[in-house]
Amino acid sequence: MGTGALEGKTVIVTGGDTGIGAAIATSAARAGAHVIVDYVGSRDVADAFVKSLEGPGATGTVQAFEADVSKVDQVQDLVAEAVRRYGRLDVLVNNAGIETRQSLLETTEAAYDRVLGVDLKGAFFAAQAAARQFVAQGGGGVIVNISSVHEDWPMPGNAAYCVAKGGMRMLTRNSAVELGPYGIRVVGVAPGAVNTPINAETVADPAAMKRLDAAIPLGKMAEPAQIGDVVAFLASDAASYVTGTTVVVDGGLMQSSPGL
Ligand code: BGC
Repeated sequence: MGTGALEGKTVIVTGGDTGIGAAIATSAARAGAHVIVDYVGSRDVADAFVKSLEGPGATGTVQAFEADVSKVDQVQDLVAEAVRRYGRLDVLVNNAGIETRQSLLETTEAAYDRVLGVDLKGAFFAAQAAARQFVAQGGGGVIVNISSVHEDWPMPGNAAYCVAKGGMRMLTRNSAVELGPYGIRVVGVAPGAVNTPINAETVADPAAMKRLDAAIPLGKMAEPAQIGDVVAFLASDAASYVTGTTVVVDGGLMQSSPGL
């Protein structure tokens, strides 16, 4: 992403201290944004990540803020904090996501609530808080929802996650229609397999990696930066006519391997 494409914009990335979120925060900072890295759990991990972004390449500023996106009041605090620090909000990236790798037959109520709470309820109410702020500012603004190829494509054994991502697909479409008149864009990004902690088990299993790589037309899993740069582009004015749709970033996976 070109330097300056997000110059001076305030960007929140939920789950921004690891995996795809960290790559998005990095791309946004390199494009000149003020980035609020939302995290949950370890302040040390978040601080280490923020520190790693200081120095050459990053022209924006990056700060960490703890909020569990499954709690509506914490998500509202996150948006309020961005506005307190920078006076406005320009971009929300709903990136925080978890999965439990359980089938419909296995999924417990607690696992279902946790996955849907983070992956869908979190994204919904973060979008609401951001959109209310965008409207109060006079319109404009971008929401990017980090979904998955599994918003469309079944993944047997990952039932609650697929349900959440299917919901996120419609969150993107419905809110784009509702918010378009305010000049607010809502865009989905659907990564395929990416080298992040969510795929740690697969990465650690050479046979599973071989199967996966063979199923991907471009031949290998994505690195997180390959998603981060697309998100920074979609959040920028270079994508000013993109809304209500999902951009698939999967190396061709969905086209080649039903039932992987
Ligand atoms: C899931 C991964 C999976 C990938 C490709 C992602 O959304 O989180 O577990 O490897 O999709 O199937």
